[in-house]
Amino acid sequence: MGGKGTWRVLVLHGPNLNLLGIREPQVYGSASLDDINKKILQWAKREGVQVEVRQSNSEGELITLIQEAIGRYQGIVINPAAFTHTSIALRDAIASTGIPTVEVHLSNIYKRESFRHQSYLAPVAVGQISGFGANSYLLGLQAIVEHLRIGPHT
Ligand code: DQA
Repeated sequence: MGGKGTWRVLVLHGPNLNLLGIREPQVYGSASLDDINKKILQWAKREGVQVEVRQSNSEGELITLIQEAIGRYQGIVINPAAFTHTSIALRDAIASTGIPTVEVHLSNIYKRESFRHQSYLAPVAVGQISGFGANSYLLGLQAIVEHLRIGPHT
């Protein structure tokens, strides 16, 4: 591990993100999930990072994907979508695997309804990126790879 081209990162999209493009475009923009995934994979190719992308509407499936990441991926970038604000189980999955994770959101969750201001995942994540649209994923990828390369910032 350590050199360019060696990191394996799992990108997870949570519920309703499969509807991006038609879902509340005033909040989430007009890009579809496919458009975003293309940008993610282009970034991965350019940076020489191995990235796999998965989406699920199911909390249980996301938990299974996180558990199965053990030994396969060194980092996770996750947009937990609404599970951010509800799921202790997702938080426990991330904490249990110990895989460094960056939480990302398209919208700035702190500018929105108060129920979106709490993230159950943030305390077990390396950090959170929120409010940069599709670019949040690329910033999240950059952040996790730098974290893996140089270790945590103090
Ligand atoms: C979101 C923000 C969440 O509050 C919301 O439930 C989503 C998407 C975002 O990317 O901005 O589904 O995670």
